[in-house]
Amino acid sequence: MANLLVKKTLEMIQLESAEHGEHTLRRVLGPVNLLTLGIGAIIGAGIFVLTGAAAAKYAGPAIVLSFVLAGTACTFAGLCYAEFASLIPIAGSAYTYAYATLGELFAWIIGWDLILEYAFGAATVASGWSGYVLSFLQDFGIRIPPKFTSAHGEVLVNYNGHWEHLSRIKDTLASQHIDPGSLAHTGSYFDLVAFLAIMAVTLILIVGIKESANLNSAIVIIKISIVLVFIAVVGFYALRHPSIFWANWHPFIPPNLGTFGAYGWSGIARGAGVIFFAYIGFDAVSTAAQEAKNPKRDMPIGILGSLIICTVLYILVSLLLTGVVSYTALNVSDPVAIGIDAVPGVRWGSFLVKMGAIFGLGTVMLVMLLGQSRVFYSMSRDGLLPRWAGAIHPRFRTPWISTGLVGCCVAIFAALIPIGILGELVSIGTLLAFVIVCAGVWVLRVRRPDLPRAFKTPFVPLVPILGIIVSLGLMASLPGSTWLRLIIWLIAGMVLYFTYGKKHSRVQLAAQAAADAANVASAR
Ligand code: ALA
Repeated sequence: MANLLVKKTLEMIQLESAEHGEHTLRRVLGPVNLLTLGIGAIIGAGIFVLTGAAAAKYAGPAIVLSFVLAGTACTFAGLCYAEFASLIPIAGSAYTYAYATLGELFAWIIGWDLILEYAFGAATVASGWSGYVLSFLQDFGIRIPPKFTSAHGEVLVNYNGHWEHLSRIKDTLASQHIDPGSLAHTGSYFDLVAFLAIMAVTLILIVGIKESANLNSAIVIIKISIVLVFIAVVGFYALRHPSIFWANWHPFIPPNLGTFGAYGWSGIARGAGVIFFAYIGFDAVSTAAQEAKNPKRDMPIGILGSLIICTVLYILVSLLLTGVVSYTALNVSDPVAIGIDAVPGVRWGSFLVKMGAIFGLGTVMLVMLLGQSRVFYSMSRDGLLPRWAGAIHPRFRTPWISTGLVGCCVAIFAALIPIGILGELVSIGTLLAFVIVCAGVWVLRVRRPDLPRAFKTPFVPLVPILGIIVSLGLMASLPGSTWLRLIIWLIAGMVLYFTYGKKHSRVQLAAQAAADAANVASAR
């Protein structure tokens, strides 16, 4: 058992991070790039799509408190990530932190688990992105044959001249007494838009980290501007007509309906579990640590800065959204558009919000795929994945094989498989990584208090403990079926580890060589 928990020494990791040359990643990212990478990954489907349903079904106007709760949980984890990312500036993020603190088996588990966050996360977002793009194109009369607009087997019906997913508009049809069988319908083969989106993002990532980061920064400026326009327009309306907002905010915490999660305080907790997805991504900044010019200083800026900015924006958006429209009307796929459209005289609201979502979700895919390829790169360098997965392109200086392979798999996955149910798997996978990172910070403080930490998580062990408790609490709020999928996923990972990873692990081989040498010496 002992060698399953073999650790990678910090000295070994720091040596790797100091390597340079054409077969290493390029250190070109400054604090602004890192900050915008974080915001690029965070603001996406969570705020543009999930907020409405979470307010309507679980928390009411108190969805604001759900955002505060989930933001607080992420802050505990973010503080721990910031310490690690400045101390261990290497591309593997949580995977490498676990390797240095808890041992190889935990590192493998977390590396395998991060696929749920980054690869499945990118696929989930690609599918949402495709929905927004299609609706945008349909507004301009551009139609893609419906058979190529959704994952394999999805049923689409023609409603109000638009092809919509039957599963999404079932309630709307029922409320209008429309029999779905009376509408034209078709089955889908393949989500072409999601496929092309992931392939395009993959190509950008292969061409260069600086190019990818600059494109991301430009798009992040656009999406933040759109969110700020929403806040300004609805905020001014609130100042002029406060009575509308007071009425919609009353009662702020709708009374519980008798079951856990149906409003009341339990509804706030359930709402936090759902909108946690909106915060996912700040940790992806840490996977770019090996490409940062000054990771010791800039990693905490990127991770915590993006988290703070997005938390403030989310709180303002959710407060204004539930004030301008009654929460009961928000169970729609474009709640933010409904919100801005409720301001009299604003005709361009939904157009603007659709643009925000299209840009917003685009950068989420970019940063998620970036994170996934960097984790694979680190795992391959450690021998836990085949060597070719860590190959760096001599000109572009990116891990082009792992980026390309991840991109192709995610594109096919997003195009063929209905991935609605995977959103919660993304959340549980991310929360598991948070638990391990928080535990790792605490363990390393005890084992190596001497290390010079550029950024120190405050109040250790209180903050890591709170991070662990809140993350486990949010995991517990997710359904049993999600837990089952997580367990099956981890078992599959274990099989791979014992059949490949363990046998090829460089750390394992080095430990074995050292033990053999010690045996030979003692035999003499
Ligand atoms: N936080 C990202 C989003 O909301 C994953 O799309």
